[in-house]
Amino acid sequence: MDVPEEHEAIVHTNDEALSCRIALDMSGMFPDPFARLFQRHVHYEPTSPLILRASTEPVQVVTLGAGFDTRWHRLYDQLANVTRYLEIDFREVVHKKQRILGQQMPSQDPRYAMAAFDMEQDDQALLEFLQINSLSLGVKTIFIAECFLMYLGQLRVQRLLTTLSMHFPIGSQVILYDAAFIENDRFSSFMVENFARRNIRLDPFWVLSPEQICNVWAPVWTTLDLQNMSNLEQSPYLTEDDKLILRTRSILDEYEEWALVSSHYYLAILNKQ
Ligand SMILES: C[S@@+](CC[C@H](N)C(=O)[O-])C[C@H]1O[C@@H](n2cnc3c(N)ncnc32)[C@H](O)[C@@H]1O
Repeated sequence: MDVPEEHEAIVHTNDEALSCRIALDMSGMFPDPFARLFQRHVHYEPTSPLILRASTEPVQVVTLGAGFDTRWHRLYDQLANVTRYLEIDFREVVHKKQRILGQQMPSQDPRYAMAAFDMEQDDQALLEFLQINSLSLGVKTIFIAECFLMYLGQLRVQRLLTTLSMHFPIGSQVILYDAAFIENDRFSSFMVENFARRNIRLDPFWVLSPEQICNVWAPVWTTLDLQNMSNLEQSPYLTEDDKLILRTRSILDEYEEWALVSSHYYLAILNKQ
């Protein structure tokens, strides 16, 4: 399916995320045999990956802007207590993913679905969409937003998070992974210029610090954990195995490069109390 012009730049960000996943697989750092399935269908650029898997104890899981995320397939054996796993993206991305994965899907498990929805639409439409796709409102749910929220404006995200907090129970979580912008910093200005060059509109809100951003959601979503990727080892959510991987395997040649890049990304776990 052709990608409509207005979605082109944003949809391309999914190809870049895939490049990270393939690089992680190739490095042996984070095996993901499913990522390779997509490789010849996109313009793949070798890259150094910094994508972190989110560690959760989900009941229902919804991945917003899921792109070619392969978590469900990779972690399948560990998801026995997941009652519904729903991935959401633009129609063209969902169709492409379905076409590529096709018969290679490890399981035709009815708990899993990917479905098309433009997250710019209003929340009444979103709630209907979630229910049509067998998500139970009122059941504890983990929402994963990995390199996604930034493509929406602050007001849209604020409304979205308010709606989710109203319809999903205490203990539901939002797991955020995004770029962390630093004031008066060359790397950060370059990221902003990069968005502009590609005609992706970045709401100035996202240039605030991760702490400021998370504080905006604070009335309903309490920040359980906020880690700059350069301090990731301190996260209470990593297993000892995860920490060992971080300590013993390096993605970039120079430690300074690793420190520079990782300091510009953060992981936040927001909890509804
Ligand atoms: C940078 S990619 C990240 C993909 C995936 N989460 C990952 O980390 O590999 C951003 C994804 O968000 C999707 N996206 C952006 N805006 C969207 C919207 N309004 N509705 C649905 N999906 C959207 C894009 O199509 C793309 O797949």
